[in-house]
Amino acid sequence: MKILLVGSGGREHALAWKIKQSPLCDRLFIAPGNPGMAALGDLLPIKANDVPALVQAAVDLGVELVVVGPEDPLALGLVDALSEKKIKAFGPTRAGAQLEADKAFSKKMMRDASIPTAEGRTFTSLKSALAFVESRAEPLVVKAAGLAKGKGVIVCSDPVEAIDAVRLIMEKKAFGDAGNTIVVEERLDGPEISLFAFVDGSSAYILEGAQDHKRIGDGDTGPNTGGMGAYSPAPILTDTIIDKCQREVIVPLLDTLKRHEIDFRGMLFTGVMLTAGGPKVLEFNTRFGDPECQALMLRLKSDLVEVMLATIDQKLDDITLEWDDRTSVCVVLASEGYGWKPDDQVKKGVVITGLDEAAKTADVQIFHAGTASKDGKIITAGGRVLGVTAIGDTLEEAREKAHAAIAKIHFDGMQYRKDIGHRALRTK
Ligand code: AMP
Ligand code: GLY
Repeated sequence: MKILLVGSGGREHALAWKIKQSPLCDRLFIAPGNPGMAALGDLLPIKANDVPALVQAAVDLGVELVVVGPEDPLALGLVDALSEKKIKAFGPTRAGAQLEADKAFSKKMMRDASIPTAEGRTFTSLKSALAFVESRAEPLVVKAAGLAKGKGVIVCSDPVEAIDAVRLIMEKKAFGDAGNTIVVEERLDGPEISLFAFVDGSSAYILEGAQDHKRIGDGDTGPNTGGMGAYSPAPILTDTIIDKCQREVIVPLLDTLKRHEIDFRGMLFTGVMLTAGGPKVLEFNTRFGDPECQALMLRLKSDLVEVMLATIDQKLDDITLEWDDRTSVCVVLASEGYGWKPDDQVKKGVVITGLDEAAKTADVQIFHAGTASKDGKIITAGGRVLGVTAIGDTLEEAREKAHAAIAKIHFDGMQYRKDIGHRALRTK
């Protein structure tokens, strides 16, 4: 079949790499993709959030399956528009995508489903938000309700910080319209886990564990980023925790979505904090994590297209996923300033060398994220530039392989973490 993949990041490069291996894939189109993906499919110059152009291209090209990588086109209703044209799409409809795109809605669903989560309140007025925050003494977390590229969450230590956070989001519009509504909630404490599940409307199939490292610096220090690396499996995700999350989170969520007539089909990515009072949900995302996806795709042995079709056709109960027992690690190579400066001030347009040599490293896949091509050269074009992903018998071995490949890659200002997976080593 002809498949169209939407997106242009490291996650989408990993998806393209895996989709291309499927016997079901005759031809792969990618919109807009990046230079790293050019060898895997035909790149279409259509932006990932240009819903009408994507639908038109899918119709014109006779595409039978569209795989949506990022959250924005889901929230804009790409899957709804494709289904009107009877084209299958992997990812939830606009209504389902609200679980990620609207944190106020997400909180409401959690409450309706009695899912354990932080106590929180939603505000649309600056005045009432400030009055509430001023009246509280405990540490709070202030969140822009809309999509803010993973950055709209401010974890505060005291009321002064919380007041500043409310002003930053609602008054100064630090995250634009995403901050028109905010959620203020109690600050929880504990280790975080991520749960990835294919969901077909009725059933959920939980994937092997994968964890990212959000902070820019080694030892989990410095500002939060979209993710500086990831590893799989994640020893913290035990069978007991998975069972508990399945019972207390996934099943009640699916029931509640059904009651609201939301038929969620696609990837559900749940962020959970393991607090002293049990697991509590921090957030839902409606797509694969980036860079967790890169680590997962290296370990997935089954046909990704087959499981995506089973998700769409509500046949997940018939599926068993096969995984490579080894450990994978994805190390993100980022541009100078990434994590510290606003995205538009991060240095870009720098020539990258050594990619071909690095690609020869055994058991390593180099997934492009923020790259572009210029005059026959590959240059940097974003904060996160490459995801060097390796697989090995142990985490240390996988990391060594990734580092051996990274040693051959160079671009001015390149920064990366040397300790991806250290949390997995600690829990052994
Ligand atoms: P979110 O996008 O809602 O997952 O938030 C991003 C990050 O902020 C999470 O990965 C947590 O590290 C942190 N966070 C979010 N909500 C809370 C909370 N209620 N208590 C403590 N930390 C939180
Ligand atoms: N790495 C976390 C995310 O994709 O949201």
